[in-house]
Amino acid sequence: MKQWIFILLLSITFLQACKKDTEPPEVENPLLYIPPGFPPLNFEIGNEFTPQRWELGKKLFFDPIMSRDSTISCSSCHLPEFAFSDIKAVSEGVGGALGTRNSPSLANIAYHPYFTREGAVGTMEGQILIPIQEHNEFDHNIVLIAQKLQQNEDYVQMSRSAYNRMPDPFVITRSISTFERSMISGESPYDKYQVQNINNALTDSQIRGMTLFFSNQTNCSSCHGGFNFTNYAFQNNGLYDTYNDIGRMRFTNNMADNALFKVPSLRNVEVTAPYMHDGSINTLEAVIEHYNSGGSSFFNKSELIQPLNLTNGQKTDLINFLKSLTDEEFLNEEKFRE
Ligand code: HEC
Ligand code: HEC
Repeated sequence: MKQWIFILLLSITFLQACKKDTEPPEVENPLLYIPPGFPPLNFEIGNEFTPQRWELGKKLFFDPIMSRDSTISCSSCHLPEFAFSDIKAVSEGVGGALGTRNSPSLANIAYHPYFTREGAVGTMEGQILIPIQEHNEFDHNIVLIAQKLQQNEDYVQMSRSAYNRMPDPFVITRSISTFERSMISGESPYDKYQVQNINNALTDSQIRGMTLFFSNQTNCSSCHGGFNFTNYAFQNNGLYDTYNDIGRMRFTNNMADNALFKVPSLRNVEVTAPYMHDGSINTLEAVIEHYNSGGSSFFNKSELIQPLNLTNGQKTDLINFLKSLTDEEFLNEEKFRE
C-alpha cells in the first residue's frame, strides 16, 4: 500500500513537472492579447477589462442600430480584414453622404495619446460621439440610441451583466472602447524577426528595406518610429502646394498648424490603401515615389521631407519592408469577426 502511494505521488510530481515545461505561459485573457515587446495597457477605474464588456462593445461595433436609419455600423468604415480601415478614399455615411477624410486603421488604437487626424479628441470614449453625431456618418444622437437599446432584451441583459446598469451613454462609450482596446497587432514578420529573434521571418530585401527605413538617408523612422511606427506628432509630408483640409489648424486655429496631420501608424499598411488623410494615394509604390520626389514646397512641410535619390532596388526594398508589417494573424483573427 505504502509503495503504491509513493508511486502515485511520484507520478503526480512528474506530471506537474511536465506541465510546467510543455504548456505555454498562462495568458491573462485571450480576448486581450498583448504581444511581446508591447507596453501593458491601463484601464479606467470602473471600466476594467472583462469579457462581458468586450462582448457588448463588439456587438455594438457591428450593429447598424447605431445609425439614424439603421443602415451602417462602425464596422462599415472600420473592417477587420483591412486592419479596421476601409478601402475607399473617403467613407460613406447614412444615405451615402460622403465624408472628407480617409478612414484610419484602428490597430493598436489603445496606445494613441489622442484621436482623429488633427488630434482634437483626448479620449477614446469621447471619440465615439463623433461618428454618432456627424451628418456624414451615423447622423444620430447617443441618448436616442440608448433609448433604442433599452427596448432590446439582449442589450438590456448584456448591459446589466457588464456594468450592472441599463444601456446608457456611459455603457455605450465604455463598452465600445473596451472592444477597440483589444485591437492589438504585433505578430507581423517584422515583430517575429526583431522581437522574437526568428531570423528567417524577413527576406533579404526586407532586411535591406528595414535598414533604409531606419537610416538618415530616408528619415522615415524620425516620424514613423517606435513599436507602433508613429511618434503621434503632427506633421506635414508635402502632398500639396495648397490644402483643402487645414488639418490640426481646424482644432487650434493657429496658422503654424496648417495642414499638419497626426503621423499614421504603418502597421498593416499593405492592406489599408488608399493612403493619406484624404485617401489620395492608391498604392505603396506611389507613396514611395512621393517621398522620393521630396514632395511639394508647402510652407509648413517638414524639413525631414527631402528628395531621396533612391535606386529602383531601394524603392522595392522599402516597399517589401512595409509589407513585413502585415500581421496575418490579426487580419484573420476569429474573435474580431461579426
Ligand atoms: C462613415 C464612416 C465611419 C464610421 C461609420 C465610423 N468611423 Fe471612425 N473614422 C472614420 C474616419 C473618416 C475617421 C478619421 C476622422 C478624422 O480624422 O477626422 C475615423 C476616425 C476614428 C477614430 C480615430 C482614429 C485615430 O487614428 O485617431 C476612431 C477611434 C474611430 N474612428 C472609431 C470609430 C467607432 C468606434 C465607430 C462607431 C461608433 C466609428 N469609428 C464609425 C470613419 C468612420
Ligand atoms: C516628417 C514626418 C514624416 C516622415 C519623415 C515620413 N513620413 Fe510618412 N507620413 C507622415 C504623415 C504626417 C503622414 C500622413 C499624411 C496625411 O495624412 O496626409 C504620413 C503618411 C505615410 C503613409 C501613408 C499611411 C496611411 O495609412 O495613410 C506611408 C505609407 C508613409 N507615410 C510611409 C513613409 C515612409 C516609407 C517614409 C520614409 C521614406 C516616411 N513615411 C517618412 C509623416 C512622415
